[in-house]
Amino acid sequence: MTDKDKYAVFGNPIKHSKSPLIHAMFAQQCSQHMLYRAVRVELDGFAQEAENFFSGGGAGLNITVPFKREAFEFANRLSERASRAGAVNTLTRAQDGLVEGDNTDGIGLVRDLLANLGWAVQGLRVLVVGAGGAARGVLEPLLLESPQELLVVNRTASRAAQLATEFTDLGNLEGGGYDLIGARQFDLVINATSAGLSGAMLELPASLLTERSCCYDMVYGAEPTPFMRWSAHHAAWAVADGLGMLVEQAAESFYIWRGVRPDTGPVINELRQVIAAA
Ligand code: ATR
Repeated sequence: MTDKDKYAVFGNPIKHSKSPLIHAMFAQQCSQHMLYRAVRVELDGFAQEAENFFSGGGAGLNITVPFKREAFEFANRLSERASRAGAVNTLTRAQDGLVEGDNTDGIGLVRDLLANLGWAVQGLRVLVVGAGGAARGVLEPLLLESPQELLVVNRTASRAAQLATEFTDLGNLEGGGYDLIGARQFDLVINATSAGLSGAMLELPASLLTERSCCYDMVYGAEPTPFMRWSAHHAAWAVADGLGMLVEQAAESFYIWRGVRPDTGPVINELRQVIAAA
């Protein structure tokens, strides 16, 4: 094992992180010799811990809540998608010793939608609910798939309106409060809020769904989230949680670090069983 084989995920809290398990499965599948551990970083200690990690020979970090913005500030160089997202979930020590920041969340979502679930984005009416970091991270890759329209709505309307202005050059995008939904209907609805984490229901009108609508919650858990239950109750065509996105964003990080693309299907299936049994 050499220095370049050391990886970790930094977050707070970190106890329930599935990243070490996911990367261990990838490493085994792809015959990669690497160490990957979860580190709980003090809320005021991110930059120092990251500095120590890289100066101690660490090769790469995943960054989770609440440090994605700080990781963005920490990186010496940023990929274009990380600049757009304003957040970094993958840090990599480059050949020249500088630390590169990337964001694989958005591509993770789009791969899960298109490759795993067999859903589409192109030419469709897409609704994103939420305007925090999670929503911001997925707007560019969604818009690159050329939806017919993309509406971002949020409880705090001004945040969604602001977000929309930052991405209008990439496609047909609007943002504001839930009132913008009106009588409109959507083919794909993505919940990018953290409401489900506290069991809270979103105040969405059921009229926005058709019997062909697909609904995706970026949150995942052993049980369907309130948004997933609401979607199924109102006869959405298909409903999914964010477990596949979690594995896909990890796979993209793994690819950045190791140059090998893992087969995500078996890992998603195994993780689903682990979560159900927990
Ligand atoms: P993240 O990085 O996970 O996106 P965040 O930046 O704190 O976290 O954003 C959380 C998102 O979930 C926001 O869009 C928030 O809405 P507000 O901007 O109005 O706060 C949304 N959210 C959280 N709890 C919610 C609830 N109970 N109902 C509706 N939206 C909720």
